[in-house]
Amino acid sequence: MKIGTPLTKNATKALLLGSGELGKELTIALQRYGVEVIAVDRYAYAPAHQVAHRFHVVDMTNINEVKALIEKEKPDFVIPEIEAIATAALFDIEEQGKCTVVPNATAIQLTMNREGIRVLASKQLKIPTSPFAFASSYTELTQAVSEIGYPCFIKPTMSSSGKGQSLVKCDEELQAAWEYAKSAGRVDTGKVIIEGKIEFDFEITLLTVRAINSKGEIQTYFCAPIGHRQEHGDYRESWQPQIMTKAALSQSQAIAKTITDCIGGLGLFGVELFVKGDQVWFSEISPRPHDTGMVTMVTQKQNEFELHARAIMGLPVDTRLHSHGASAVILGGIDACGVSYHGLENALAVPDSEIRLFGKPEAFVNRRMGVALATASSIDEARIKATIAANMIVIKAE
Ligand SMILES: Nc1ncnc2c1ncn2[C@@H]1O[C@H](COP(=O)(O)OP(=O)(O)O)[C@@H](O)[C@H]1O
Ligand SMILES: [Mg+2]
Repeated sequence: MKIGTPLTKNATKALLLGSGELGKELTIALQRYGVEVIAVDRYAYAPAHQVAHRFHVVDMTNINEVKALIEKEKPDFVIPEIEAIATAALFDIEEQGKCTVVPNATAIQLTMNREGIRVLASKQLKIPTSPFAFASSYTELTQAVSEIGYPCFIKPTMSSSGKGQSLVKCDEELQAAWEYAKSAGRVDTGKVIIEGKIEFDFEITLLTVRAINSKGEIQTYFCAPIGHRQEHGDYRESWQPQIMTKAALSQSQAIAKTITDCIGGLGLFGVELFVKGDQVWFSEISPRPHDTGMVTMVTQKQNEFELHARAIMGLPVDTRLHSHGASAVILGGIDACGVSYHGLENALAVPDSEIRLFGKPEAFVNRRMGVALATASSIDEARIKATIAANMIVIKAE
């Protein structure tokens, strides 16, 4: 593979659609190979804006704005980092053949809508999922819920980080869940998904990489499974490896392989799975690095950002684990702009710990502002260390 010199005429350019903390690390990973990175978000000074060669503020759901920017920047790679993107623009760009949409436009469109990926996984690929149905009206919702039964989840078909999502246990809670799903979805598709609740032992993210091997063929590689704990549909803690039975691991890998083979393209995917004993259910997939995968910054030889960067560029990858570890998120705790962070010296005094502060211009009570990472000889110890380090950081309004 040939890489040019950044900021010259022959630069190899990557344009990131979405510039959060995952985009920031991906930008750094790409820049280590001398790739010129242009970071895009809907607000200025997003995390990846702060480390990219340059940045733009664009409404990424606006097809004309996205196309105009890509025309202007002429990147070699367009790398979506978030779900809310005008996918029609990506199809046009892909069709022109001048740059690679990572992993491809179809993948971005399929995964941004729960309906697309659910129907593909369950109906076409016959992968086990929770029982599910879609509803466009309250009447349809009550009908679907009477078939699926309580407890069940009601979610907007287009949302992420648990937004608009409720766990409903009885008829009395249904109306509020409907209103919430309708109002909090990223885009009102007019539809919600109803999913039966899976009583899993634990849930994992299986980072799966489609990359070119030494024979020049596309090969699928798996990272060790990442366990995580969610609150209100958003991740709070993750650890790697998650201990699971051989049968559950091979079933997880088989599901991840089937779905990523179908999606195609090159890059890293976060495959979310529920596990109970030897049984595995597919939940959803991100065609990009995953928030729970931030733990790989301390556990793997090549972290998820490095793996994504390498895979995209057709370079060899190594998904090996080198240490047990954990991550714990640092939430804003307050609503304020230009906050200050205190206690870094205490957090970093925890042995084998690291802290990443994302530098977001505005904090919200539940916004992820940083992450604590730690390694240890056991998962339990790593989780304790990461949580202690995260708790040492105090965010203040001035
Ligand atoms: N059908 C389900 N059964 C059990 N738990 C679920 C189910 N759907 C969602 N959850 C819980 O909620 C979390 C977030 O749901 P998810 O569908 O991944 O939403 P998002 O796209 O916002 O991440 C999951 O990681 C899991 O902990
Ligand atoms: Mg999820």
